[in-house]
Amino acid sequence: MIAIGCDHGGLDLKKQLVEHLEKKGYEIKDFGTYTSDSCDYPVYAKKVAQSIIDGESELGILICGTGIGMSMAANKVSGIRAAVCSDCFSAEKTREHNNANILCMGARVLGNELAFRIADTFLETKFSEDERHKRRISMIED
Ligand code: RB5
Repeated sequence: MIAIGCDHGGLDLKKQLVEHLEKKGYEIKDFGTYTSDSCDYPVYAKKVAQSIIDGESELGILICGTGIGMSMAANKVSGIRAAVCSDCFSAEKTREHNNANILCMGARVLGNELAFRIADTFLETKFSEDERHKRRISMIED
């Protein structure tokens, strides 16, 4: 399962990304927001983060205007490693090296096609399991 969430700034991209990912066969759980009414991104960041911590979802995607507020909020949850990505190289490396479990994107930063490719790359890339990366990740955990 892939958990997804957004605020009002990410709503349109989220809808289209869900459609894109479902066509590719991913099972998606959408934690909202579901309307264009102004809302608070930490609410949705925490829902998606909790789904991962509970083991309900393997990975998550959070979308706001910039991706930044979502990443700040998600990274406050112990065990979450959220990365803002605006390119495919970063999306690949943050899975391989940081074992990132949430991808954050900015709907006001990215075009939809690029966002789809970044999400595909993130979801298709596995953690390297290299000892040096495991050590570094353990050093950033509480
Ligand atoms: C909402 O206007 C905007 O602040 C939010 O979507 C996000 O960019 C925050 O980081």
